[in-house]
This record gives sequence, C-alpha cells and structure tokens, in this order.
Amino acid sequence: MAQTDETRANAPDQTIEALSSEDRTFPPPPAFAARAIVSDRSIYERAAADLEGFWAEEAAKLSWFKPWDRVLSWEPPFARWFEGGQLNVSVNCLDRHVEAGQGDKVAYHWEGEPGDRKAITYAELLTEVSKCANAFKALGVRRGDRVAIYMPMIPEMPIAMLACARIGAPHTVVFGGFSAEALRDRINDAEAKLIVTADGGYRRGKPSGLKVNVDAAIAGDQTPSIEKVLVARRTGQDVTMETGRDVWWHELVDGQEPTCEPERMESEDMLYLLYTSGTTAKPKGIVHTTAGYLLGCSVTHRYVFDLNDDDVYWCAADLGWVTGHSYILYGALANGATGVMYEGTPDYPAPDRWWDIVERYKVTILYTAPTAIRAHMKWGTEHAAKHDLSSLRLLGSVGEPINPEAWMWYHRHIGGERCPIVDTWWQTETGAIMIAPLPGLTTTKPGSATVPFPGVDADVVDAEGNSVPLGGGGYLVLNKPWPSMLRGIYGNPERYRETYWSRYPGRYFPGDGAKRDQDGYFWLLGRVDDVMNVSGHRLSTTEIESALVSHERVAEAAVVGTPDNLTGEAISAFVILKLGTDPSPTFGEELRQHVAAKIGPIAKPKTLMFTPDLPKTRSGKIMRRLLRDIAAGRALGDTTTLADAGVVEEIREASRSGKDDE
Ligand code: WT7
Repeated sequence: MAQTDETRANAPDQTIEALSSEDRTFPPPPAFAARAIVSDRSIYERAAADLEGFWAEEAAKLSWFKPWDRVLSWEPPFARWFEGGQLNVSVNCLDRHVEAGQGDKVAYHWEGEPGDRKAITYAELLTEVSKCANAFKALGVRRGDRVAIYMPMIPEMPIAMLACARIGAPHTVVFGGFSAEALRDRINDAEAKLIVTADGGYRRGKPSGLKVNVDAAIAGDQTPSIEKVLVARRTGQDVTMETGRDVWWHELVDGQEPTCEPERMESEDMLYLLYTSGTTAKPKGIVHTTAGYLLGCSVTHRYVFDLNDDDVYWCAADLGWVTGHSYILYGALANGATGVMYEGTPDYPAPDRWWDIVERYKVTILYTAPTAIRAHMKWGTEHAAKHDLSSLRLLGSVGEPINPEAWMWYHRHIGGERCPIVDTWWQTETGAIMIAPLPGLTTTKPGSATVPFPGVDADVVDAEGNSVPLGGGGYLVLNKPWPSMLRGIYGNPERYRETYWSRYPGRYFPGDGAKRDQDGYFWLLGRVDDVMNVSGHRLSTTEIESALVSHERVAEAAVVGTPDNLTGEAISAFVILKLGTDPSPTFGEELRQHVAAKIGPIAKPKTLMFTPDLPKTRSGKIMRRLLRDIAAGRALGDTTTLADAGVVEEIREASRSGKDDE
C-alpha cells in the first residue's frame, strides 16, 4: 500500500476536479494601510526580463567575504546560485547590524509561557551565538558536521541555530512535538554528531520533557553518529545526565569566549536540513544552502511584509518548521527586524495571550496560519476586543488556503479593517514565499495568494503539462529555478528527481492544485498527492499508515485527510485488525497512542475506524478517494475501477452505525 513517489507522480488525478468545483464566495478586498517599500510595479517586469540580474541586484545587498563569479548554473534539476561567492549567514544576521550601529536594537522580545520575559538585542545575540559556537567547537563539532536541535521556543534555540551557521555545521531542527522515534530517524538520516536540547519546555502550565525523549532516541547504539548532548536548563525538571556524553549548556556555553571568527562559507554549502513528509513513509531531508536561501527569505521578508525600520514583527510559528526558520530567524534577522518570539500555546494562560502580546510590544506585523485564526474565532471575539490592537498595520497568512470566514474575521477583528492581509503560498522545499501580494502594489482578493513574487515563474497546467487558460484549474508548477529552492533530498538524488521533477520534466511540481482567475490571480486548492495538511503542518498518509501497521495487532491500514472546520484537514484512519483482536474503542485509543509514540501527538488520527476490508482497484491500489468520501460523509464518486464493489457499502454501513453510536 505504501506507494512510491513515482507511482504517485504518474497517477491520474481525480482530486483536482473535486477541488476546483468547490463554490466559494468572497467578501470585498480591503483598503491599503501599508507603507509600501516597493512602490514601483516595474519590479515585476524587471525580474521577468532579467531573472539573474534581478536576484544579483538583491544579492549585492547581503554582506559577502568574496563576491560570486556566476549568478546561476542550471542543469535541471540541479541549480547552483552565486558560485564562487563566500559569506556567512550569522554575519549577515548579526555582525553587520552591530557594525552598522544597530547593536542596541532589539532582535527578539521573548515571552516564556510562565510569564518570564526578555528583550535580546542584536549585540547580545551576537555574543551568545559566538559563545555557543565556541562551545560547539569544544564539543568536537567541525565545519560540515550535522547538529540536531530539539528544543522548546527559548532564546537558546535560535542561538544554537545561528551558532551552527557561524561554524558551518548544518543544523537539522526536529520539532519539539515529535516523538523519540521520529527524532531518532532524523538523527540517523542526517548522521548528526551533536544534539542540542533542553530538560523540557512549558506547555499549558506543565513542563513537558524533551531530554527524556532524547535519552530514549539515542539509548544504546541506536544513533551511532551522536557523540555529545548539550542540554539547556529551562524547566528545572529532573533529568539524567550521562557522564562523558551529556553536558549542561550553562556549564559549557556561558564560560566561552564572547567572540568567534565566522567560517567563510561557499554559497552552495549546506546551511540546514529540514525533514518534511512526502508520499512515502520516510520523511525527506530537504537541503537548503547558504547564499540563495538567505537571499530568498530576506528579500521576500522585506518586500512581502513591507518591512520598515520601526516595525515590530511577529511570526507566531515554531522554529521547528520552515516558517520559523525563514521568517522568525533567517529572513527576519538578515533584515535587522525587531521580532517577537514566544513559548507555549495561544490560549494559555488565557485565550487573549496573543492580543496581550500584540498590545504590549505594539506589534505592527502579524504572520500566522488560518488554523490559528479559526481557533481564535472559536474562543471568541471578546478576547481580542479587550486589547488595543491599533499598532497592527499588516497581517499575514500561511500554511493552507484561508477560508472566507477566517479571512473576514482576521480582517475585521484583528486588523480593524485597515490592515492588508498578505496570503503567502510556499513550502519547506521553496525555502521562501513564492506567491503573495506586495502590499500597496497588489490588490488583494480574500482567499487568493494573488500573484507570483517577482522573479517567480508559476503556471497552472493540465495533466499533460499544457498551460490552462485563465479561469481554469489544474496543477501548480514553477518553470524556473529560484535562489532559495531546495538543492535536493539529503542522500537521495533519485527521490529528489522523481518527486519534484518527473511529472513535468524540467519544471518543479510542488504537489498543489491551483486555479487562476481572469485577472491571473492564483487560488491555491490544496494538495493533490497523499500529503495531508493538518493545522498547517504536513503529514504523510503513508507515514501514519506505516505507524499503524507497525502495531502487532494491525493487518492493514489506510489513512485519508478529511475537511475539518478548525484544522483544515483532519486525519481519518481505516484499520483492518488481525484475526482474534477485539475492535473495541479502547483498542482504537491504544492505536491512536501508538501513532503518537511513533511520530508525535500531531499525527494521531482524529477518527479511527475498524473495517473488515479496504476498497482497492484490481491492481491492488487503495482507492483513497472513496475513503475520503466515506470519511467526509459524501456521495461516492466513480466506483467502476473497484475490484469488489461490495466493500465500500460494508465500510459505509460500519461508518454510519459507528456515527450513530457516538
Ligand atoms: C504546503 C507546504 C510554507 C510554510 C508552512 C507549510 C500548503 C502553504 C499556503 C497558502 C494555500 C498553502 C500547500 C503547500 N500551503 N501555504 N498560503 N495557501 N496552501 O509548509 O509543511 O512545507 O507545507 O502547505 O499545500 O504545498 P509545508
């Protein structure tokens, strides 16, 4: 049942039709309140006419040890940008601002969950990053070694990431909500030498353990590459420290020299690896390099968020995902922005926590996901109304298509009807925003990510790769390379080629359906592959299926995403048990916990149904479309390719009676 990326890429697609036939009505666009740092529409024509010239002009705004020899080498599907150039990302994010007299500017207003607060200036951040970099060296980390980071949202997290960049040791951040097993897989794929973690972090008033998961992940000889574990103290909870392997941050880092010579990195040296779900059970290590990535995320950050010197910018994501990498850390700091960073959840200790933060720091730009907006809607408008949100002037959205209700609520109750909303389409693989308005220049349409960023050549094509006329729907493709594009899947060039470049040779296929209206505006329609988007996080159906079948009592499993009012999509699992196992609700709960232990709590199926069989084609492929229809309670589509038509009715019956029981 685990399909390869290849079979997926070649599969005829039914989803696209279902997606584009959805009828959506939209409220009117808002007035602009942006200050519009890009005020000249010619930026689009300039970039289109001379792609390399456009990016080179922007790249010159970065700080280089040595200029590049060549802007782009493109041997599809392998791109190299700014070859011959040398630079260091931490220098671009820190040193150059300090040298320009901005050392006292706040880089982050940080808020811990228990209410502890700290403002960290650029000068302080540079010192801390240098100390941490020296500590890494003391632990034996050298240029090119990989470092795994598994941390709560405390200042030590961006410090550790930047310290990696300073010494040229690529990091791989593993989201703190992932399980020990998921952490182990990523450590082993990346062959990380060091892991940086904390005793734990705060979540909803309770310290939750991280070091304990690290211990489980690396116990015995399960992660042969790991030599050391660096542990920051956050919660003070009890942890076991293994002598010779585990080192406290405060004992090692704090006493280091406050300066550290930055490595002169080549443009194409790897900056980091970030694992993301694909259509197979094995997550992909997405490779991002130094110059192009930094360029892409800093330019888009400046232009899409209309960043001015006095802005207070808050990207309310977690550094464990690409949104945090690009728009809490690298893009934001490269632009010398003052940002907000917080630990915990939006509704603890109270549902007005975010609005309290906006008021306290006079946040001007807020960037978040539709799922968070819908959660706030659910908690009630009164929480935002208690606070003065008049500092806000720009709102952003990312992670999934934003529905009209959420868009209107955001616009009205958070933006006071004066803030433009920039809906930004991109992915882990693109590294930076690809489709989004430029505030003050692009008229927004609620629910549309609008038009490609300057220099981005996007199209909507049919199954054969022909461009679909305006007004039609199809598959999104990107026709030209861009600086922040992934350079590959770590250790797997074949999978890279197959997943992204085989469906439309020479063009990048992101896996999304899209429609374009008569004005050429893009309306993203969601994934067309076996990838789900739950609360703006990517999860693979196959990965969850594998977790389910790894339970000794499970014979077979199929997982689909179903529409969900809060999380966008929710996970529905269909499970066939081995003979002699009682399909009880208790066992269902055990299976859900089993998935949480394998992948992480975010991967737990919302609904889990035991079924005697699964709908398959004659060639044995599970027809997920039918399962999606069943899970969503929709009328069934075409069933003519089904091997055994009776199966679907059986499952449907079971699902109906299951619902009646609730
Ligand atoms: C997938 C990428 C990019 C950071 C967060 C997720 C969906 C993302 C939008 C948007 C419609 C969107 C796509 C994409 N997506 N932004 N503005 N409108 N869909 O990163 O985990 O790599 O997921 O999220 O389906 O392919 P990711």
